[in-house]
Amino acid sequence: LQSTVIAPSILSANFAKLGEEVDNVLKAGADWVHFDVMDNHYVPNLTIGPMICEALRKHGVTAPIDVHLMVEPVDRIVPDFAKAGASIISFHPEASGHVHRTIQLIKSHGCQAGLVLNPATPIEVLDWVLEDLDLVLLMSVNPGFGGQSFIPSALDKLRRVRERIDNSGRAIRLEIDGGVKTDNIAEIAAAGADSFVAGSAVFNAPDYAEVIGKMKAAVAA
Ligand code: DX5
Ligand code: ZN
Repeated sequence: LQSTVIAPSILSANFAKLGEEVDNVLKAGADWVHFDVMDNHYVPNLTIGPMICEALRKHGVTAPIDVHLMVEPVDRIVPDFAKAGASIISFHPEASGHVHRTIQLIKSHGCQAGLVLNPATPIEVLDWVLEDLDLVLLMSVNPGFGGQSFIPSALDKLRRVRERIDNSGRAIRLEIDGGVKTDNIAEIAAAGADSFVAGSAVFNAPDYAEVIGKMKAAVAA
């Protein structure tokens, strides 16, 4: 397994002081910044775009920015995010007419590429493209909102995707997104995740370092 990554989702941060929030969460031990992009079309919510990503880079954020695109169509916005400083760009296959093309597009702009599977999306969508991916992101909630509960069937799905990744022999990250807390992260890690998005669990806590520390300890145990 690859090293553990904790990626706080800034969806649950205080947007009125976003730069400070991101600085604080990185100081507290976060590895990546998870950046949720929603378009009020693919998902029923509207968030932030490339300008905010660029603003974080200009603010001095050097950590990987893990862009989770919940937008349709996908391709048009990819170059803008690459220019804005995205490190990883992940998208939902349902939102792209040409999944293989979108993966190549992301990589051609110098970013790592991820594919996101909704709770009901079959893992067969990974057939034929797994080896082109840097990351698989499994949703353990339906995308659109922070603060939802972890859907238990995601554990079995993690185990199955873990097996596929291991069989591929490639260093593909397996990330989980939705309802990750200090008290369920150990079983999520045991099911095969190596990268963990956590929004409300981190940003609604008074002490970011304490939550992130507890999460890392639980994964390592
Ligand atoms: C949901 C987003 C998640 C969300 C997770 O559509 O993709 O990244 O912020 O929030 P929590 O950790 O609160 O479930
Ligand atoms: Zn997300």
